[in-house]
Amino acid sequence: MQSHTPAGRATPRPGTSENPPAAVAGPGGNCSPTTLIAPGRGAAVAMPPPPDPPGGSAAVEPQRAAGHPGAPPVEPGPIDLAARLREYGRLAAARTWRGTFAEYYELCRQRPQLARLSHARVFDMLTAAGVGRSDRGPTEYAFFAADLFGLERTLDQIYDYFGAAAKRLEVRKRILLLMGPVGGGKSTIVSLLKRGLEAHSRGADGAVYGIADCPMHEEPLHLLPAELRAEVLAKDGIHVEGDLCPYCRWRCRQEWAGDVGAVPVERLTFSEKDRLGIGTFSPSDEKSQDISELVGSVDLATVGRYGAESDPRAYRFDGEFNIANRGLMEFVEMLKCQEEFLYGLLTLSQEQSIKTSRFAMIYADLVVVAHTNEAEYQSFVANPKNEALRDRIILVKVPYNLRIKDEMRIYGKLLGEGGALGVHCAPHALEVAATFAVLTRLRESKKAGMSLIKKLRLYDGESVEGFGAADVRELQEEAEQAGGGRGEPVEGMGGISPRYVINRLSSAVSRQGCRCLTPLEALRALKDGLEQHTGLDRQAREAYLNLIYETRKEYDEIAKTQVHKAFVYSFEDSARTLFDNYLDNALAYWNRAKLADPITGEDVEPDEKLMRSIEEQIGVADNVKRAFREEMLVRISALARRGERFDYRSHERLREALEKKLFSDLRNIVKITTSVKTPDADQLRRINEVCARLVAEHGYCTICANELVQYVGQLLAR
Ligand SMILES: Nc1ncnc2c1ncn2[C@@H]1O[C@H](COP(=O)(O)OP(=O)(O)O)[C@@H](O)[C@H]1O
Ligand SMILES: [Mg+2]
Ligand SMILES: [Zn+2]
Ligand SMILES: [Zn+2]
Repeated sequence: MQSHTPAGRATPRPGTSENPPAAVAGPGGNCSPTTLIAPGRGAAVAMPPPPDPPGGSAAVEPQRAAGHPGAPPVEPGPIDLAARLREYGRLAAARTWRGTFAEYYELCRQRPQLARLSHARVFDMLTAAGVGRSDRGPTEYAFFAADLFGLERTLDQIYDYFGAAAKRLEVRKRILLLMGPVGGGKSTIVSLLKRGLEAHSRGADGAVYGIADCPMHEEPLHLLPAELRAEVLAKDGIHVEGDLCPYCRWRCRQEWAGDVGAVPVERLTFSEKDRLGIGTFSPSDEKSQDISELVGSVDLATVGRYGAESDPRAYRFDGEFNIANRGLMEFVEMLKCQEEFLYGLLTLSQEQSIKTSRFAMIYADLVVVAHTNEAEYQSFVANPKNEALRDRIILVKVPYNLRIKDEMRIYGKLLGEGGALGVHCAPHALEVAATFAVLTRLRESKKAGMSLIKKLRLYDGESVEGFGAADVRELQEEAEQAGGGRGEPVEGMGGISPRYVINRLSSAVSRQGCRCLTPLEALRALKDGLEQHTGLDRQAREAYLNLIYETRKEYDEIAKTQVHKAFVYSFEDSARTLFDNYLDNALAYWNRAKLADPITGEDVEPDEKLMRSIEEQIGVADNVKRAFREEMLVRISALARRGERFDYRSHERLREALEKKLFSDLRNIVKITTSVKTPDADQLRRINEVCARLVAEHGYCTICANELVQYVGQLLAR
């Protein structure tokens, strides 16, 4: 990870680590201990606080590559502000370096990587953060791992692009264009790169130097005359590319003539806010936007002083291309731009230079990462006029997630970030939301027996009856070939965005009195939002409503299983009791004897109804019940002779019968306890037990535990 140990003489304080790991805060979502008043029950039951929500994505959050110096140390307690400020100042001072070109050249000789170009800088930054390759899974990029989920293919392509560009291959001269649906993470990718570069430039490995006071903070090696460069490369292994900017060229003639070695050089700290090394260009209103925003402009106020518009002192090198020199520029919604701007971009990428009307080409070295949506890209491609530019683009698709697990991590991140939840997030709430979101992004398969839900499960890595990993590949190919024709987006390039989901969940949560985000609440919020969702035609809305319904069906199964599971804790005991009971009755039946009533002590007949209710579970008909009981008793005595105990598990069919009986009893219990207006003490105890177990063992709070039990009660009552 990014523990920068200064090397070389550039950094005066050896041993400084510039990026202490940022304190990692897990997503919120804990509720305080609550007292439950079960609706319609009038009884208060104290519940223990729920444990941390399960599956929190922050638990394994790797250290961020873009950590910032000055992040608080991890010790608990209040911050020692004075000490921290001193430390911050010390680190900032450690990063400053001023010297001469001759000294800088010496640094380069020791560390030729100082002379690398922008793409190589980005590549080294990504690599240094850690790239985990494995034969089994996808490659893991630690640089992105904490923030981006499920974008393996995209990240592979981005990394490969920088890898090739770092080797000064031709791809370097192409613009990286991220294309994807809204809210798919394009801006996030670029912003991670930008923030990362800022942090990288503060570390020793990412140190960048520029000619002091050059408006484009250009590479000081540009001072080397072309004639010497071959020799510099051969003897010192330093690769020099590019020429002085007009301003430095002028100073070279006027100020530095004769002593290039004394030209002042300084270390740079990339900062978008300071407009140094990182820039952003976004298209705005056609009329008001001027190309000078990209390439700079003549400063009319100073022209008078210098006499000519072509005097570089009268030029403001403050376009985004200029200021992002050495680093990275984000080109927002690139294809919304006027042609003029795109041609500026073309020159930059093709010739590595900025064209202005006043000067010859100005050399620039920067990474341009642009983004766009699919519709704009398609119409751009359709226009033959754009052919030249199209050839200059490396297109990388940034699709939506098609895996629930990854999608849930996005929600976990976004909801956790601002403490936006502030309420308990019930188990399965995010899963349900993610299921719906992913369903809207999938395309129906023509494969026989393949439903959308099955496809979703397969994509999620689960095994689905009758299908396997080979089918996943086939499905992906099918989806890809179905392509974007007929105006429909390719799989993953359309559907509901994570942002929509987050907005809906946030609004559900911020409703008055909401203390827990439950799966049903989440689904309701998603459904209600469809009404207001602009850009959805009637057909799409209906299709989505149908998917809400599908998701709900999925959840129903989950809910039932969950409640069953909550009963399983006492299952052993219950099964044993029931078994003993059955055995006593069966024995009495066989011996034609009577049983003692446990309370009154009176003699009673064997409980035929109880025995039959168990036997019927496994289809033992009335005319074979005798044989069944006999067989079981024979087995018992056989075991007893060998000194072994007969357990309810010793008899496979009986065990099954008991389990089924218990589950059906349970079903009745849940059904009854949730539907009666005033439950008796026993029913109340049962339901509270189940709720308590859901809270203690399954991550529920009292609110969602109660909702779950009631909901399952309704389902079972149908
Ligand atoms: N695959 C993903 N992994 C992590 N977060 C994502 C992913 N896709 C979208 N997001 C989150 O959704 C939000 C919207 O993404 P954004 O980068 O603004 O999308 P875009 O620029 O493509 O419209 C961001 O907060 C982003 O972090
Ligand atoms: Mg965006
Ligand atoms: Zn310059
Ligand atoms: Zn809850």
